[in-house]
Formats: sequence, structure tokens, C-alpha cells
Amino acid sequence: MTHSSVLTARGIRKTLGEGAGQVEALKGVSLTVHTGEMTLLMGPSGSGKTTLLSILGCLLSADSGTLELDGESLQGLSSEELARVRREHIGFVFQSYNLFPTLSAAENTALCLDVRGVDRTTAHKRALEALDAVGLSHRVNAYPRTMSGGEKQRVAIARALVGKPSVILADEPTSALDAENGKAVMQLLADVSRDSGRAVLAVTHDHRTEVYADRIVRIEDGLITDSSRPTKCKSAPEEEVQEIEGSNVTPLPTQKNKRARGSNAPKRRRAGKAKR
Ligand SMILES: Nc1ncnc2c1ncn2[C@@H]1O[C@H](COP(=O)(O)OP(=O)(O)O)[C@@H](O)[C@H]1O
Ligand SMILES: [Mg+2]
Repeated sequence: MTHSSVLTARGIRKTLGEGAGQVEALKGVSLTVHTGEMTLLMGPSGSGKTTLLSILGCLLSADSGTLELDGESLQGLSSEELARVRREHIGFVFQSYNLFPTLSAAENTALCLDVRGVDRTTAHKRALEALDAVGLSHRVNAYPRTMSGGEKQRVAIARALVGKPSVILADEPTSALDAENGKAVMQLLADVSRDSGRAVLAVTHDHRTEVYADRIVRIEDGLITDSSRPTKCKSAPEEEVQEIEGSNVTPLPTQKNKRARGSNAPKRRRAGKAKR
């Protein structure tokens, strides 16, 4: 599988808050995520991770800088057009699952297709397929109140997958989970990137999750300070070096031609067998 760039941000700056409470959350961030790869975004609390993810996901606009998705510039799009890009190209996974309590797993998963105008029968069928892909075909009629945290997060991943997005953005997807469920969710996200050729960018502060990464990007105080591939990982696309040139850091040596899927990660398990 070739790993082409799918989402590229260049020179992103963002100031949040008003008056004396203003904070320059992002100070010129450049980042590219690639298909078929799981990238981890790591950094201390307050370093700008959520702000960056929100901008990459078109939930928040940058003060300056550019974004490209699938080779198309997002510059100058209206808020309606950005909402369409978000719906059709980006899947989100949040720490707190964000499921509707009155909807079943299948209904939660199908909802974003309903909103897009996909007919009910097709939406339901695709929801069942997505739930099967995350190992929850036996829980399609379950409601969030009856599910474990791990199950809820897997429904959230199914919901992110069902629209067939190019990119999945996950903000601290394991923070509310115990270690075992956290590992299963990270494994599932890694499987999603590798098996479906989607790009996954996951924010985490848990160093134990580094084993699932193809690439680790570190952010501190609104600036990317490091972008590296764990030892013996897949070949590094050319953009990586360019990407950190503008970030005031020394590029690390890339690991070209050392594609070794899974050699830096625990042995791959079928997503359906992930722990609940
Ligand atoms: N709405 C807001 N108003 C003012 N400052 C904010 C707001 N949201 C976030 N910040 C500040 O911006 C910085 C980056 O926040 P955030 O992106 O949430 O960091 P992280 O996700 O890495 O913890 C922090 O200093 C935070 O306090
Ligand atoms: Mg955050």
C-alpha cells in the first residue's frame, strides 16, 4: 500500500479567548497525515492538541495557515461547504464517546448517513457492517447505558467509519477507558488505518499507546517539536522532512524502505476480537 498524503496543514496559527485571557494556542503548525497510517499526536495538557484537531477537522477555523484535503485546498470555503467536507471526509472519535443515549448502537451509527440523505435501509445496512468491523455485531440493538466504555468507544469508531471518511481524528479516545479497553481501542484504530487505508490521527498522552503508532508527532506550547517514526516502521514519505522544516526543529533521520507492518506494534488481532 502506498502512503499518500491526505490531509496537510501548513503554518496554522490560532489565538483563543478574549482580552487578557487570550492564548496563542497554535503558533505556526505544519503537519501531514498519510493514508494507511496511524499517527499519534502527543503533548502535555494545554499544548494545543485539541485546537489542532478541531482545525484539521474543520470544526474551527485557523487565524492563518492553509489546509489541504485529498489535494484540494480548503481555503475560502463557506461554512456550509466546510460542513460538507467534514461530513463526507472526516470521522471523529471523542474521549466521551458522544453517543445519543436514546438511540441504539445501530441507530447511533446510522445517524450521520441519515443526515446525509442516505436512505434508511442502506444506512442501516452500512451501520451493521461498520459495527461488525469493530466486533459489535452482537450489540447492534444495545443502548449506550447498557454498554461498557470500551463498547461505547467502538460504536463511536463504527460511527466514524460508516461514512467512509479519508481521515479519522480521535481526541484522547482512550482517556476514559481502563488499560485493557484502551489497548483494544488503539489496536482497532491501528487496524482501521492499515486495513482500510484511511489516515488516523489520534491524540493521546499515554506513552503505552506508542507501540500502535506508525508515526509520533509531539507538540509543545503550540509548536510541533518532533516528528518521528518508531524503529523499524514503514517507509517514510518525502513530506515528513519538509513538514518539520518550518517548525524550528532538527528533522530526525527517516526510516526509508523499512516497511515492517506490525513489527513495532503488538501482533495484529482481528478488530472483531478486540477486548470488550
Ligand atoms: N475557548 C478558549 N478560550 C481561551 N483559551 C483556550 C480556549 N480553549 C483552549 N484554550 C487554551 O488554548 C491552549 C490549548 O488548548 P487545547 O488545544 O485544548 O490543549 P490540549 O488539547 O493540548 O490540552 C491552552 O492553553 C488552553 O487553555
Ligand atoms: Mg485536549
